[in-house]
Amino acid sequence: MDYKKYIADKIDVEGVSKADIESLIAVPPNTDMGDYALPCFRFAKALRKSPVAIAAELAESIAPDGVISEVSALNGYLNFRIDKAGLLRATLAEIGAKGGEYGSSTAGRGKTICIDYSSVNIAKPFHIGHLSTTVLGGALYKIFAFLGYNVVGINHLGDYGTQFGKLISAYKHWGNREDVEKRGIFAVNELYVRFNTEATEEMEAEAREYFRLIESGDREANELFDWFKELTLRYVNKIYDRLGVKFDSYNGERFYTDKMQPVIDELKEKGLLKESNGAQVVDLEPYGMPPCLILRSDGASLYATRDLAAAYYRKATYDFDKCLYVVAYQQNLHFKQIFKVLELLGKDWAKDMVHVAYGMVSLEDGAMSTRKGKVIWLEDVINKCVEKALNVIDEKNPNLEDKREVAEKVGVGAVIFGALYNNKIKDIVFSYDKVLSFEGETGVYCQYTCARANSVIAKSEGMSRELPENISVNGEEFEVVKTLAAFPDAVKDAADKYEPSIIARYAVDLAQKFNKFYFECKILSADEEVRPQRLAITDATLAVLRTALGLLGIGVPDKM
Ligand code: ARG
Repeated sequence: MDYKKYIADKIDVEGVSKADIESLIAVPPNTDMGDYALPCFRFAKALRKSPVAIAAELAESIAPDGVISEVSALNGYLNFRIDKAGLLRATLAEIGAKGGEYGSSTAGRGKTICIDYSSVNIAKPFHIGHLSTTVLGGALYKIFAFLGYNVVGINHLGDYGTQFGKLISAYKHWGNREDVEKRGIFAVNELYVRFNTEATEEMEAEAREYFRLIESGDREANELFDWFKELTLRYVNKIYDRLGVKFDSYNGERFYTDKMQPVIDELKEKGLLKESNGAQVVDLEPYGMPPCLILRSDGASLYATRDLAAAYYRKATYDFDKCLYVVAYQQNLHFKQIFKVLELLGKDWAKDMVHVAYGMVSLEDGAMSTRKGKVIWLEDVINKCVEKALNVIDEKNPNLEDKREVAEKVGVGAVIFGALYNNKIKDIVFSYDKVLSFEGETGVYCQYTCARANSVIAKSEGMSRELPENISVNGEEFEVVKTLAAFPDAVKDAADKYEPSIIARYAVDLAQKFNKFYFECKILSADEEVRPQRLAITDATLAVLRTALGLLGIGVPDKM
């Protein structure tokens, strides 16, 4: 049941829509005054009355019913108490009926969202810097799908550029097929690094020629390029599988090679292209931005040109309602420029393009991924977390079955949760000990809470969940139930703000409230009258925590 909506329906404020009232209703951090509150300050101007008077009048006008047990006004707030038994019954019944679908909706039916995320570069390391885009995009994918949207996951591969000419040249000089087959992307990356430190003038020239050959469709050059691409994809797909992310399209920059000309022509037609030092640019000075480079003086296209062509293609192919780009904030300007150019081209859908920017990830020991030339491969971070998880399991629960599998879920979950727990724009410092802590605000803590609920449920066989006619609800139970009731809102909020951290925080909050309940209230050994509701709370918590973690891409082991 949607309590905010229910309450909003009872409130009439002249000139304010029910939807606006609903969005103003909040769950106060301190529940002494009520379970939900409507601040009346915003209405003061329109109604020409003080918020205190408005709240008092509204309180008079609303009669308590079976859902709302009490209405009061204080300091400009209209406070509502919810009938605890009613809330418990309604919420647990709904979760019982919907199970893993609780919190989902059909709000997105008929709408398409493109999500450009992870977007790796061929033949370059898949390093810790790709963690956020991969797991943020993966979570947004699942969240929007859960809300009924048709989601298109796009890996806009970095597979275009002169570096591939360099790679071929390096391979020709120093490479060895067997070694590259065997060590894959690592061997390829070494060749590339070696080129950048050792290449002679002749090799540089040769590299330019190889790039030209790739472009002109030369067979050998393209075979080599395709091979490097395949090695890279084989490698990253292994990691995508472990992180539980997937893509519907791998159309990368190269795919747009023959799709840029129409955009360039249109720019020209509409008088938007200007020459600047031999290059073709779109002047963005009136908008306070440097020019957007479309063609270099040698006629070569740029990253922006390909992104414009990609935007056209996505609109034409998917007819998206929104097109998201989950890319680091370092590219803020790039996307502002692209979106502005689309607007200048008269595309009304430019307003549907969203840059979902996020902060940097560094490791606790201070080594930043690329700056010191020291690459931290994402796979190594994941492996280390799984290894550490296995050590903890060996210590805490040495006889656990399927230890490896559990460690994989815990380790991978720790990495994902660590990347998603904070507001996405924040820079984060990744700490192995922190993300693997059983006590902190971690994925492990949430998974452990699930295992705890699971073990209660396993022992409850044959025990009823049927609630008696009259029930009373204590404080700990009510806190859990209210949090359960808030899940659909949290999912919606996470989607509206493109912020999976809202779900991560929700999961920790629910786990904390459940644990408080678990330690304060008997469940299996509770009296006959209260045991059903406590078991039903346990069932529901497990279901919702599992769904919440699932939306983030985190699996839940039965036992830990
Ligand atoms: N491959 C790029 C990079 O690593 C990210 C691409 C993001 N997507 C896009 N459509 N520009 O920086």
